[in-house]
Amino acid sequence: MSKQPVIFTQNISESIDKILSCYTYDKLFILTDRNTFRDAFPLLVDSKSCSNTQQIVIEADDTHKNIEALTSVWKVLSDGHATRRSFMINLGGGMVTDLGGFAASTFKRGIRYINVPTTLLGAVDAAVGGKTGINFNGLKNEIGVFNPAEAVLISSIFFKTLSREHLLSGYAEMLKHGLISSIDVYDKLLIPDFSHLDLDKLLELLEESVKVKEHIVEVDPFEKNIRKSLNLGHTIGHAFESLSLKRQLPVQHGYAVAWGLICELLLSHMLLGFPVNRIRQLSAFIADNYGTFSISCNDYDYLYERMTHDKKNESDNVNFTLLKNVGIVEINQTATKKEIYAALDLYRDIFHL
Ligand code: GLY
Repeated sequence: MSKQPVIFTQNISESIDKILSCYTYDKLFILTDRNTFRDAFPLLVDSKSCSNTQQIVIEADDTHKNIEALTSVWKVLSDGHATRRSFMINLGGGMVTDLGGFAASTFKRGIRYINVPTTLLGAVDAAVGGKTGINFNGLKNEIGVFNPAEAVLISSIFFKTLSREHLLSGYAEMLKHGLISSIDVYDKLLIPDFSHLDLDKLLELLEESVKVKEHIVEVDPFEKNIRKSLNLGHTIGHAFESLSLKRQLPVQHGYAVAWGLICELLLSHMLLGFPVNRIRQLSAFIADNYGTFSISCNDYDYLYERMTHDKKNESDNVNFTLLKNVGIVEINQTATKKEIYAALDLYRDIFHL
């Protein structure tokens, strides 16, 4: 898989035009969801290339990252006489870049595309690294391919209007990147007052965080080994996300990851001796900024069942990426049901639940 350029830009219209000028294409399509069509697309007003595109607009949010939305994108491409020489821009959060990347990768066996993430979560994770796909049969990202965008263009112009919740959701993935990379990167992220974090500082931290992911993807694009480190916090985080949906009180993905990180660091402590003071420090940051996700022992069976359904597991033990310390990653670790329940007990102790 070729290296995917990730470009940070102050002038998104100019950067899009510059990238597109490197390609010959017959037609340009731009995929947005209803929200990014309304809020983000008008910010590309100065782009000459974008003044002459065919629009594809889909419904917003992860529940629409499905086969119906995918079919609707293929239909516009087909009706719009897209060819293999056509080009697509995915402008949106992770849902748009995942689904758009998959639509582009499969239409006529693949047309080229770029990602322009409009959320912090998209910029730090989904848009970068070539994973594309849709949810299917009740399972997240069940169908998809690895196929990187020609480029990812990141501009903070889209972040200015994001809510604190959306910023924190993306920030959880940045914390994860810090934990798996080095104490240097990680410590900078534990800022005392998140609500006063200015956009320039956020961008500086984001750039460093994206580099962590770029490096991992470059070494292991198809997730055979070290890319699994990016799953830290996600096995339990996804189970929390499912529980929140079951309770009909959905939480943002990054929030579930933040709480999942604490549980998986507790498992890391139990199985690999990850230092307790580091867990206390992160728990305080997460409690202050994300609050807590309330669980009782009555939820354990459901949470465990969700973890064992995770596609990464080969037996009743659950597969995790764990840490010996910040920056010291151990992939392919397994934990028993008893160990997982003990970690959930400790999580409840830490957060006084
Ligand atoms: N979101 C994790 C990865 O890209 O591998």
